[in-house]
Amino acid sequence: MSASRGKFNSRIGFILAAAGSAVGLGNIWGFPTQAAGNGGAAFVLMYLILAFCLAYPAFMAELIIGRHGQANAVESLRKVSKDGWQKKFAFIVGFGGILCAALLMSFYSIVAGWMLAFTAEPITTLVGATDTSNWLTAQSTSRNLIFTLIFTLLTVFIISRGVENGIERWSKRLMPALVALLVSLTVYVLTLDGAMDGLKAYLIPDFSQLFEPSLIVSALGQAFFSLSLGTSVIIIYGSYVAKNENLVSLGASVTLIDVFIAFLAGLLIIPAMYVAAAQGVQIFDANGALISGDTLVLTVLPALFDGMGSVGVIVALAFFALMSIASLTSSISMLEAPVSYTVERFGIARNTATMVIGALIFATSCLIIFNFNTLFGFVIALTTQYGQPIIGMLCCIFVGWIWHRSSLLEELKSGNEHVENQLFWKIWPWYTKLVCPVAIALVFIHSL
Ligand code: PHE
Repeated sequence: MSASRGKFNSRIGFILAAAGSAVGLGNIWGFPTQAAGNGGAAFVLMYLILAFCLAYPAFMAELIIGRHGQANAVESLRKVSKDGWQKKFAFIVGFGGILCAALLMSFYSIVAGWMLAFTAEPITTLVGATDTSNWLTAQSTSRNLIFTLIFTLLTVFIISRGVENGIERWSKRLMPALVALLVSLTVYVLTLDGAMDGLKAYLIPDFSQLFEPSLIVSALGQAFFSLSLGTSVIIIYGSYVAKNENLVSLGASVTLIDVFIAFLAGLLIIPAMYVAAAQGVQIFDANGALISGDTLVLTVLPALFDGMGSVGVIVALAFFALMSIASLTSSISMLEAPVSYTVERFGIARNTATMVIGALIFATSCLIIFNFNTLFGFVIALTTQYGQPIIGMLCCIFVGWIWHRSSLLEELKSGNEHVENQLFWKIWPWYTKLVCPVAIALVFIHSL
């Protein structure tokens, strides 16, 4: 079976695909929104600390498990386990991650659908189709169903084409487009009145807030979500990495890109909010805190774009296209997790597996759309607050406590001969074994 497995054809292909998975609504929406809601720069600082000290080591754990296993998440975890309870445990963790990825996609594609609808809106406004524009931007079951379906179909299309022709090719096209859009928008917004106040709020930390427990919990959750951890996604992408690649530097590159893009998105969104304020848009809530959540992206920013006149149409289009692209490169990784498992475990053709699983995920999205008030927040909390940290922590436990140290070293040496003498090997194994699980568990228990 391994002969027919897909594989990333180039180092840059993997980096862009994994960074594509990592960079998504979490970076461009979640990170700035959370920063806005948690004291601005203090959150940014804590996020940077946790991303490098906890999320990166956990990311490495998943990446190495995948590259060693050269198989879907369940098989890869089973390969590092001994017979008996360990194999069962491997199944639970691997399958749990796959389920988590599928559930994540069911709400993610609804939000991504909003992004597509908001991308279409400037066009319908330009041609004078006011009714359509109103429909596109107002919450409704019909709009949500249609755009979730379109987004799911786009994802299914890419995943059905496989690793090289689907994931790698599309990540290579979409990621540079995303960076170009993000940089141009940021440069433009920073030239507008009010942007400098936003920049100060974003970059000058209020240290008194730094150790607020709620800030730490949010920052860790955000870091795990952003690096796509605890969903078996990094395991499966790792399994498509060639044996002669240096995993330590690959993982570091992806983490750096992810953090950099989140930081850049903050440079765009927070100043944009203050520009909106300078134009009379309400950006603080009743308690004096910056508005966050969907009001920020779906109300404050469109109000800002409206205030810009005709150039605002182009800026709005660019901004929501950026959001849509970022969502797509993430959702393809979510769908790949269950698809790769089904293809390898049951020997089903990739096309069929992709379509069946895509349909099941869309059915779940429909269930959420029809019971929006009860299910939407619930599924988000279930997957991002519970599923991802728990499974991410269990992957660290696999690497630290179950996988034999010499076999782990051998895997790392493949593509990085001298790793044994590097700082990474001196710190990471015990760090992943002791510090990561305890720290993640502490933050998790606290969040309960
Ligand atoms: N990392 C993605 C984002 O920031 C979300 C994601 C989570 C993707 C889990 C895959 C798996 O939007």
